[in-house]
Amino acid sequence: MDIRTLWNERYTKGLPSLETPDPFFIRMFDQIISREFPAGGNAIDLAAGTGRHTLHLAEAKWKVTAVDISDVALERLVEQTPDVQIRTICTDLATYQLPQAAFDLVVLYYYFDRSLFPAIIQAVKPGGLLICKLAVGKPANPIALQEQELLQLTNMLDTASYEERPVKDRGVAEYAGRKPF
Ligand SMILES: C[S@@+](CC[C@H](N)C(=O)[O-])C[C@H]1O[C@@H](n2cnc3c(N)ncnc32)[C@H](O)[C@@H]1O
Repeated sequence: MDIRTLWNERYTKGLPSLETPDPFFIRMFDQIISREFPAGGNAIDLAAGTGRHTLHLAEAKWKVTAVDISDVALERLVEQTPDVQIRTICTDLATYQLPQAAFDLVVLYYYFDRSLFPAIIQAVKPGGLLICKLAVGKPANPIALQEQELLQLTNMLDTASYEERPVKDRGVAEYAGRKPF
């Protein structure tokens, strides 16, 4: 089964855990994003799913591009809002050409491909932010994000917040960083 079909099936069955904004995102929105960009800005939500964070940003007047491989997820997002500030792009991030220095905010939640990080960081405007939360895998799984690796992958940014902690049988890394001017 290809990745799009797999995720389309998951979204058709329903993924309730991905329907409300994540607490770390809300905290970063309240403490950093909304203070540094009180009038909103341009954001991209990578592997956005049904857009729980896209919607939160759009409600705060951000112009958001939501990218995901699942057309089912992106259709759900569009159904939830007539907001013209949201643009959806249904594509595989492995081949998507991220525009450079185009976004005040890049959101990356629970989609990990370490080869994308140079392009993700280039996509952030000087002074812009990257907010991400990713699962940390076991050392025996080299494809997964490793402990402390997120800090290495983002070392071109100034870290504003970082925490890694165990969750169930694995871990989670929460990161916020700012691109220097
Ligand atoms: C665990 S979900 C997270 C969704 C969203 N970021 C959130 O936190 O609600 C992972 C997402 O990655 C998307 N995805 C998986 N592989 C992808 C790829 N190669 N390109 C773009 N999106 C992909 C899936 O469709 C799914 O929406």
